[in-house]
Amino acid sequence: MRISVIGCGYLGAVHAACMAKLGHDVVGIDVDARKIDELQAGRAPFFEPALPELLEEVLATGRLKFTSSMADAKGAEVHFLCVGTPQRKGEYAADMQYVDSAFMSLLDSLEPGNVVVGKSTVPVGTAARLADILAARRPDAVLAWNPEFLREGFAVKDTLSPDRFVYGVPHGEGGSRATSALDEVYSTPLSLGTRRLVADYGTAELVKAAANSFLATKISFINAMAEVCEVTGADVTVLADAIGMDERIGRTFLNAGIGFGGGCLPKDIRAFMARAGELGADQALTFLREVDDINVRRRIRVVELTRRLVGGSLLGKRITVLGAAFKPNSDDVRDSPALNIAAQLQLQGAEVTVTDPQAITGAQARFPELAYERDTSAAMSSADALLLLTEWEEYKALTPHHAASLVRTKNILDGRNVLDRDMWRAGGWNYKGIGRP
Ligand code: UDX
Repeated sequence: MRISVIGCGYLGAVHAACMAKLGHDVVGIDVDARKIDELQAGRAPFFEPALPELLEEVLATGRLKFTSSMADAKGAEVHFLCVGTPQRKGEYAADMQYVDSAFMSLLDSLEPGNVVVGKSTVPVGTAARLADILAARRPDAVLAWNPEFLREGFAVKDTLSPDRFVYGVPHGEGGSRATSALDEVYSTPLSLGTRRLVADYGTAELVKAAANSFLATKISFINAMAEVCEVTGADVTVLADAIGMDERIGRTFLNAGIGFGGGCLPKDIRAFMARAGELGADQALTFLREVDDINVRRRIRVVELTRRLVGGSLLGKRITVLGAAFKPNSDDVRDSPALNIAAQLQLQGAEVTVTDPQAITGAQARFPELAYERDTSAAMSSADALLLLTEWEEYKALTPHHAASLVRTKNILDGRNVLDRDMWRAGGWNYKGIGRP
């Protein structure tokens, strides 16, 4: 099929490359000319495992090209909207300006029979609102909403073989047409067994909001348990293993630590609360406020634990923060708990050095007042405490012996509970985990 992908960020760039991999002719469109130049040259403008290789492979076939001109969407049969919906400044609600402007400028390029497919995470009601505009301006085109569930770090795999497709479509002939078009786009993963659910617009939009809310709740649940473990001397990692063996609960997303961050979970639960409020259903989601509070509390708690670790005062203490990205295998520092903790420590008088295998450039742009060091060993040099805040493999592989040869004082805070506590203590380290004795 001929496909356009509008918005080439973490979602759209991967989607465009994957659609070309599935055999389609794809044009990726973005207003950021620099990003387009990078992508057209086969370079991913952000760190995502497997994306550079995929770009190289599909660009060579001639099935993928990138452009900054919306007019190049003309000729495509299916148009995917993949632009961002960040949190509005000073509010919980999502900022819809990018979705709205991408949609409005696409209208001029639409041709009879085209299918416009929203993938962005949007407040429930958005698809119906855009469908009304489409009906007035391009009655021969149809809108579908097809939320994306990809995880950064696994985006290529999650796009090529997702665990499910959800299509939000209108009733009647338009809905059947949109469903057939999406079935054709995704024919390879569908033939390999990916399940698909067809629903109305509102349900499709809510599936995404509900899924992210559930994941955030699971993380905050285990972090709340960590708080209780901390005051009772219990071990949250054993607790998570034990409750996770109940298949109704499951072990995934039960890792206690410094909490969730990134460009999705925090802003999506807030946008969901804001939208529920507008709809008069705010009571249904008041628990999400608690989920958010527990999450933010983790960051404050880590600052306190660090203060204790270094003897009661942060003033002048050299703290090395291992990890700036919101999670490993990503260079994304949006709402990164690690960076937030680093900044708080610095504000309270510590001398903080941050290191990360991929995220330093992004982190520097957000928090220029922090010191950065790319080399892990140099970053750890003369530290009064190490804080492992993003569980990159290279930090998990650190040995107490090697680290001891670099630091000034053998203090380590394992913000993700990924180190072997007994081994570090045996090496003479003052080890502190999260929710562990
Ligand atoms: C998330 C959803 O997983 C994805 O389906 C959706 O499309 C977008 O939002 P992503 O933001 O890439 O994806 O990250 P994810 O792997 O879900 O992790 C989110 C945050 O939760 C990270 O900061 C991670 O460190 C944290 N986390 C995750 C925990 O603290 N504990 C866990 O057990 C799991």
